[in-house]
Amino acid sequence: MNDVTPVTEAAAAVKPHLPDAQTVTAVTHWTDRLFSFRVTRPRSLRFRSGEFVMIGLLDDAGKPLLRAYSIASPSWDDELEFYSIKVPDGPLTSRLQHIRPGDEIILRPKPVGTLVLDALLPGRRLWFLATGTGIAPFASLMRDPETYEKFDTVVMMHTCRTVAELEYGRQLVETLKTDDLVGEMAAGKLLYYPTTTREPFDRMGRVTDNLASGKVFADLGLPPMEPATDRAMVCGSLAFNVDVRAILEGFGLREGANSDPREYVVEKAFVGEGI
Ligand code: FAD
Ligand code: A2P
Repeated sequence: MNDVTPVTEAAAAVKPHLPDAQTVTAVTHWTDRLFSFRVTRPRSLRFRSGEFVMIGLLDDAGKPLLRAYSIASPSWDDELEFYSIKVPDGPLTSRLQHIRPGDEIILRPKPVGTLVLDALLPGRRLWFLATGTGIAPFASLMRDPETYEKFDTVVMMHTCRTVAELEYGRQLVETLKTDDLVGEMAAGKLLYYPTTTREPFDRMGRVTDNLASGKVFADLGLPPMEPATDRAMVCGSLAFNVDVRAILEGFGLREGANSDPREYVVEKAFVGEGI
């Protein structure tokens, strides 16, 4: 689905002379709950693939209404891409979902986050574990050559309720194969493992269940995770992150951070219990 919804005055209310305003260059609506968009990149913005920034619009009172967003594009890209939920009555996304090319958004150029390659010790296999919009930081890392320079195998496990909710990730992985910069490396190293939980699909089940049962290892012909070889990055709801942590710790992996690299790192895909 690629429909474009009409712009509202509120959504376009960021004045061009504001510092930190960036121009929207493209918008794609994937489902009635999900869309992605691209904006111009501030020349001063340097970030590591996997980090997030604060973006937003002006509210009715003219004050910036900002939320954390993972940058979904890689650090070498001229533009910035974001992948967003549409929360019914969400203060920001009820407006943000109406942006169109030419509109402006606010982007604070101060990237931060734990889902960076620097926060992991060297290893052989890298696991990206995500639900819903939690795939956004991995959309960045999957397009970064450094990911493939550092690891022999990269596995992208993404679980959503329905097939349509997987489509952004599916198309991204598909186009990666012909990408000039990472295509060859990704074709040889990237294993994509999408699953649904509430609609029939060729692969089903929660990330947690497929790891705990060993199904994903059997399906991909990989050995079970172990601390000597496997590294993981996790991004989903709080409940997902808690459950995945327990499984990774069960395999002997320990949580790391920028200042203390270890075997896995975790970031919240959003604050709250879901919609
Ligand atoms: P809010 O008032 O912020 O949220 C209302 C409720 O909606 C939340 O309590 C929660 O229950 C639910 N919700 C919010 N975001 C999501 C989501 N992404 N998926 C499912 N349910 C959600 N959101 C993105 O869409 N893409 C991103 O790349 C992204 N990156 C984030 C990175 C970090 C580190 C954090 C902390 C949050 C991130 N978020 C992301 C969430 C984002 O900051 C906002 O919460 C979201 O845009 C909704 O804003 P809102 O003002 O409309 O509603
Ligand atoms: P399920 O359908 O079994 O709840 P949501 O749309 O609610 O954000 O969920 C996105 C995906 O994450 C769904 O497929 C959901 O599976 C899965 N999920 C939700 N909570 C957990 C959890 N604690 N552990 C593993 N997967 C989860």
